[in-house]
Amino acid sequence: MLVVVHEDYDAMSKKGAEIIASRIRRKPNLVLGLATGSTPLGLYKELIKLHKNEGLDFSKVTTFNLDEYVGLPPEHDQSYHFFMWENLFKHINIERSHVHVPQGMYGDLKISSFETDPKIQQFCSWYEDEMLRYGGLDIQVLGIGGNGHIAFNEPGSSLGSRTRIKTLTEKTVKDNARFFKTVNDVPRYAITMGIGTIMEAKELLLLANGDGKADAVKAAVEGPITAMCPASALQLHRKAIILTDKKAAGKLSAEFVTYG
Ligand code: GLP
Repeated sequence: MLVVVHEDYDAMSKKGAEIIASRIRRKPNLVLGLATGSTPLGLYKELIKLHKNEGLDFSKVTTFNLDEYVGLPPEHDQSYHFFMWENLFKHINIERSHVHVPQGMYGDLKISSFETDPKIQQFCSWYEDEMLRYGGLDIQVLGIGGNGHIAFNEPGSSLGSRTRIKTLTEKTVKDNARFFKTVNDVPRYAITMGIGTIMEAKELLLLANGDGKADAVKAAVEGPITAMCPASALQLHRKAIILTDKKAAGKLSAEFVTYG
């Protein structure tokens, strides 16, 4: 695991975009795993710049997003579908058919049957199969939750888990309430790639910025590998890069850190 600390958010985002761009140049039909949240916004802005100014070509790239809320239609402004089209896809030359974001709507399915309904399970297996059909993820972009979650794999998620439906913790619901009118509007369920799914990506690129992530980053990098900090699984990955700003790295011991 390589931890590279940057002066600030912009420098971290630029570095992240450079890494992704170099992988696309090396393999134009890259299978790229993407994340949502506020953290990767700067990286997406930089990728858009590289596309517009330097002709970075996404026409052969295939993407798979980590997660999606259950119960939000794709046109809802807080759905991850909407987020990805608004903040990246509509600005680059990606083929619509190459974009994969987990399905969040399942007709009029009731909340009480979310965890057992075969429709959701079928979708999750299809999503896993689809990634394999493309040869697996070449590189997966990740953020980190304040409680150490990756995608929507909350603390306690099995380290071998696959794409499935998860109940969000109260902390995550509260953290994400800033994007909704009230906390009651935050969906309680999400479809998420599992930790096992994420760990099969050939390369992982986790970004973290701000004081609010310092404890989670320390636990992920220096703590024991435990389901209670899903991001700690990255310690077992053979090619995991963590990019941070100074604040998110604020609690790391010097021996774990390289400066970018
Ligand atoms: C959500 C997403 C995660 C993301 C996390 C952190 O819960 N499912 O993929 O990493 O939030 O979000 P932010 O980057 O806004 O801090």
